[in-house]
Amino acid sequence: MSETVAFVPTMGALHAGHLELIKRARTLSDEVVVSIFVNPLQFENPDDLAKYPRDIEGDTEKALSAGATRVWAPSYDEVYPSEIIKISAGELGRRFEGRERVGHFDGVLTVVNRLFELVKPNFAIFGEKDFQQLFIIKNWVKENQIPVEIIAHPTVRDSDGLALSSRNQRLSALGRKSALVIHRALVAASREEMLQILASEPGFKLDYAEIIDEETFEIASSASTYKRGIIAGWVNGVRLIDNSPMGLAR
Ligand code: PAF
Repeated sequence: MSETVAFVPTMGALHAGHLELIKRARTLSDEVVVSIFVNPLQFENPDDLAKYPRDIEGDTEKALSAGATRVWAPSYDEVYPSEIIKISAGELGRRFEGRERVGHFDGVLTVVNRLFELVKPNFAIFGEKDFQQLFIIKNWVKENQIPVEIIAHPTVRDSDGLALSSRNQRLSALGRKSALVIHRALVAASREEMLQILASEPGFKLDYAEIIDEETFEIASSASTYKRGIIAGWVNGVRLIDNSPMGLAR
């Protein structure tokens, strides 16, 4: 029997990006638990929650074929049996993604805390695609000395550069083309250039485009060693986010 557990928390709608996380988990442990739980606490918009794609059977098959040893789709009551201990993501939880999506990161930390309590993993694998989520979880684990090693996995992209996301399913063919501007902008050398590239695509509506210091998640300065471009915006009524180390978008 495996002595360690590697955990991949998901909300389902598994795509190749999730499967890479599961494969990575399998390199860390023989026991790989994948959870599928659409967490209502992290949706600020009821419509978004209602529209979230659900296919437990298909997802289970995909997860098992990628190397999961257990696929777990708990009920709401299992995750939140009575009083919910709400965890606050603090000030950073209200910036960038958190400014548009009020309470989103509090909901993420609250569910991750409960899932960790239930699964008791040694490793938990998160994608860099949700870079702010990853940063907030890493800091919370460190500050609270939670005995879980957080493993960051690079963003998985289609061959044209579009970051894989469950939301891509909702893009029209034309919208998908417009969405490619995000990846083009992430190759820019400066924020000005990034904004210019984004403005050149009429199908893209900007929410924010910033260059942050990877170690603090503050706006980068000349003292920053590691800088990362972060972009969020709308295409076809679908909200998309992406990020990449500055000037290095692949
Ligand atoms: O990244 C996600 O899919 C979710 O935010 C997570 C980490 C599974 C928590 O619900």
